[in-house]
Amino acid sequence: MTRALEGKVALITGAGRGIGRAVALAYAREGASLALCSRTKKELEETEKAVAELGAVSLVQPCDVSRVEEGERFVERAIGLFGRIDVLVNNAGIAHRAASLVELSPEEWESVLTTNLRGAWLVARAVVPHMLRQRGGSVINVSSWLGRDALTGYGAYGVSKWGLEGLTRYLSLELKSARIRVNSVSPGYVATKMTNYQGGRPEDVTDLFVYLASDASAGLTGRQLDVETWKRDLGLRTR
Ligand SMILES: NC(=O)c1ccc[n+]([C@@H]2O[C@H](COP(=O)([O-])OP(=O)(O)OC[C@H]3O[C@@H](n4cnc5c(N)ncnc54)[C@H](OP(=O)(O)O)[C@@H]3O)[C@@H](O)[C@H]2O)c1
Repeated sequence: MTRALEGKVALITGAGRGIGRAVALAYAREGASLALCSRTKKELEETEKAVAELGAVSLVQPCDVSRVEEGERFVERAIGLFGRIDVLVNNAGIAHRAASLVELSPEEWESVLTTNLRGAWLVARAVVPHMLRQRGGSVINVSSWLGRDALTGYGAYGVSKWGLEGLTRYLSLELKSARIRVNSVSPGYVATKMTNYQGGRPEDVTDLFVYLASDASAGLTGRQLDVETWKRDLGLRTR
């Protein structure tokens, strides 16, 4: 049976745990080779072991996406090993304590915006030149419904995700003619460290990520997608 991502190389940030780890495992099952990063080496090594058990080749590297040189070095290592990057999943993200925007300190604001928005832009900035050379690729930005609506107490996180939606829109516009697709995904409420392990299972949100990485979604760009809506629509289409 042909696998959806056979021959593709995917770079996933924040792959040590949670949604990023689940996406890495789903991509490994579909035949992709993987470049995986996060800041915690031990968690990355656990993901590396799990994807190896599924037969995938992976490069793992501790890396802070908010630091220019660290991201660039990681991307260059991935290119050195695999020669290409077909899929970028900008998944690394952090939240902050529940507090209104005026209660947050400048440091709290900075760390959230720097990781969730600047980090995604920096990694895209390092990866896209390779996708341009390849004349194609798929960028998936992991957003949130808080990047499309608002909830008191989550302001800096929400603003970072609104920014990520803007980044998605602009990149998709700039890269469309080069056949590089850029979409955002709102995964829903998922049980990870970020949500104190409340919510649905990470492995239940990965199908949309596989679809967006695969040729089945060719031509789809600039879209704000939502896991629950996508699952419901898919059910309706296949009924
Ligand atoms: N869980 C949900 O309900 C939910 C809902 C909507 C959106 N999301 C989004 O989904 C994404 C994944 O979150 P999650 O729920 O899976 O949370 P998580 O379990 O806390 O995982 C976050 C991942 O990002 C990594 N990370 C954080 N800062 C980083 C940095 N500066 N550089 C590199 N890696 C970094 C973390 O590893 P280190 O700490 O070791 O670096 C970890 O591997 C985030 O963008 C989040 O905003 C989650």
